[in-house]
Amino acid sequence: MRIEIPRAQAYIESLASGEALSKRKSRTFAEELGLGNICLSPAEGHLLAFLVRMHECLKFVEIGTLTGLSAQYIIEGMGGKGELWTLEKTDLHAKKAMEAIAEHPSGKNIHVIVGDARFTLESLQVSGPFDGVFIDGNKAAYGDYLMWAEKNVRPGGLIVADNVFLSGAVWGSIEGQSKNFSEKQVAVMQNFNKRLSDPTLYDSVILPTKEGMFFAVKMF
Ligand SMILES: C[S@@+](CC[C@H](N)C(=O)[O-])C[C@H]1O[C@@H](n2cnc3c(N)ncnc32)[C@H](O)[C@@H]1O
Repeated sequence: MRIEIPRAQAYIESLASGEALSKRKSRTFAEELGLGNICLSPAEGHLLAFLVRMHECLKFVEIGTLTGLSAQYIIEGMGGKGELWTLEKTDLHAKKAMEAIAEHPSGKNIHVIVGDARFTLESLQVSGPFDGVFIDGNKAAYGDYLMWAEKNVRPGGLIVADNVFLSGAVWGSIEGQSKNFSEKQVAVMQNFNKRLSDPTLYDSVILPTKEGMFFAVKMF
C-alpha cells in the first residue's frame, strides 16, 4: 500500500523541471522493464541532488542503481566534480544503466559496480571514507547497509534511504499491514528507522514522500 497524496504530489511533480535525454533514457529503460514505478520521481531526484550539493559531497555511494536515474541526480548534486560508485546486482539493470549514464556529461565519474552489494560494499571500503550514501537496494538488507554506512561514511556525512515506509508495513497498524513483507523484513525496516531516528547518533528526518525518504546526517 502506498500513501496517496495525489493532488499535492501531482502539483509538486508538475513544478519539477523536465529531465534531459540521458535521464529520460534511464526512465524509459526502467519502464520497458516494468519497473518505472520504482525510480525516483523528478522532484525526489532534485531533492536528493539538492542535499548532496548542500553537503558539498564529492565521494558518494549508491546501493541499487536500477537503470541509472538517481545516479545521474547524485552526480549533478556533486556538480560533476565528484565520484559516485553505484552498486547493482542485476546484470540487465546495470547494462541499461551504463548505456544511459554514458550519455550524461559527467557519466565518466559514475562507476557502476555489478554484483550483490553485500559483497561489493566490502571491496569499496578502500575508497572511503565517503561523504554520503543513498540506500535504495534490497529492503531486507537495509540494516546491513546501515552498518556499512556507519563505518564508511565520514562524521557529518549524509545517509539517505528510500522506501522506509515499506509500503505502509512499518506502521504496524491494521491499515498498514501488508502481505508483501515478512515479519522479519518489517522488523528490519522498523529497526533501521529507529536507529536513524536516534538523536544521539543522527540529525535526521523522514520526508513523507509516497514511499518515505529518510535524510540523516551522521553525527559520529
Ligand atoms: C528501487 S531500485 C533502485 C532505483 C534507483 N535508485 C533509481 O531511483 O533510479 C532497486 C535496485 O536495487 C537492486 N538490488 C536489489 N538487491 C540488491 C543487492 N543485494 N545488491 C545490489 N543491488 C540490489 C535491484 O536489482 C534494483 O535494480
